[in-house]
Amino acid sequence: MNVLIVGSGGREHAIAVKVAESKKVGKIYAAPGNAGISEVAECVNIPAMDFSMLIDFAKEKNVDFVIVGADDPLVAGAVDEFEKAGFKVFGPRAEAAMIEGSKAFSKNLMKKYKIPTADYEVFTSADKALEHLKKVKYPIVLKADGLALGKGVLICDTEGEAFEGIRTIMQDKKFGNAGDTIVVEEFMTGPEVSVLCFCDGDTIKPMTSAMDHKRAKDGDKGLNTGGMGNISPSPFYTKEIEEFCMENIYKPTMSAMKSEGRPFKGVLFVGLMLTPDGVKVLEYNARFGDPEAQVVLPRMKSDILEVMEACVDGRLDEVELDFEDNAAVCVVLASDGYPLFYDKGKEVTIKEGFGKDGLYLYHAGTKFVDRKIVTAGGRVFGVTATGKDLKEARDRAYKATELVEFENKYMRTDIGKKAIEG
Ligand code: AMP
Ligand code: GLY
Repeated sequence: MNVLIVGSGGREHAIAVKVAESKKVGKIYAAPGNAGISEVAECVNIPAMDFSMLIDFAKEKNVDFVIVGADDPLVAGAVDEFEKAGFKVFGPRAEAAMIEGSKAFSKNLMKKYKIPTADYEVFTSADKALEHLKKVKYPIVLKADGLALGKGVLICDTEGEAFEGIRTIMQDKKFGNAGDTIVVEEFMTGPEVSVLCFCDGDTIKPMTSAMDHKRAKDGDKGLNTGGMGNISPSPFYTKEIEEFCMENIYKPTMSAMKSEGRPFKGVLFVGLMLTPDGVKVLEYNARFGDPEAQVVLPRMKSDILEVMEACVDGRLDEVELDFEDNAAVCVVLASDGYPLFYDKGKEVTIKEGFGKDGLYLYHAGTKFVDRKIVTAGGRVFGVTATGKDLKEARDRAYKATELVEFENKYMRTDIGKKAIEG
């Protein structure tokens, strides 16, 4: 089977490495891919949002199976376009990707189908939002409705901060049209868990759990980012919690989407918070997490193409989904200054050691210039190690970060620390 992977981040690199292990795979292509992905796939310089060029390329190369990794093309209807052109494609259609593309849609869905989540109000007028913010309890959470690279969420401790937030999102339009509608949400506390689930429209099968570290700085300080590191499994996600989520969150979400005429196929990412009042949904994403994929996929025993094909064909109930009984930790190497301002184009040196013994170097923002690898993004690499438990995986991952050098390399030093120390 010839496979085309659409996207260019660490997540797509992790998917490509797993696809390369499949016994069903022929040739792998990636668009646009990155320097690391080119080790396992042929990368072609077509932007992930240029659907007609992607389709022409897929036809020319006799691609049999397409995997859309990134949120932007999914929300914009990449899967619909590939389907219309006759391709087998893994991912939700636009109507279903809306569960990530609009926070107002997903909050209203949860309310309608009684899926546990934080209380909230939706506003399309800044004046009405400001009026509401005079009456609420602080802290409060403001969320831009649309896609904002994981940065459209503001936690406001005071009325002043919330007013400023409304100005930033709705009036100055920091996140563009994503901020035309805003969700004002109750502030919750507790450990966060990410659960990625394979879905075929009817059946939902959760993968092993993960835990993101979203803030830029140690001790969960600094700005929200796309994710600075991840561990799998989450020690907070017990068997009982998993069973509760299956019955009260995962299955109800699948049937809710079906009832709404938006059956969900692909990977549903459920962001959970384990609050003192029970488990609540923070958010849904319509794709693998980044860097969740970089800790979950290295632990996956099942053949990823077999599982993905079963999702597309609507027979996920027939396949086994297995994970190793081990642990994985991913530490993101970023450019200092991320998520705000940072330099690119710094030459990278990588020492021997990756690609064996459960050590992986996933490229997130890199490219080749004159045959040399240079930095090309805020998040540059994900260094992942597996181990018999989280502690071993963590020690090995941090040791392996020393194998990669570039000017302005920055990482958090406490990925997994809290989870391991309990
Ligand atoms: P989201 O994109 O909705 O997952 O939000 C990004 C991050 O903001 C989450 O991972 C949480 O750390 C934080 N967050 C979002 N909603 C809430 C909430 N209601 N209470 C507390 N923290 C939140
Ligand atoms: N790591 C969080 C996300 O992929 O949205």
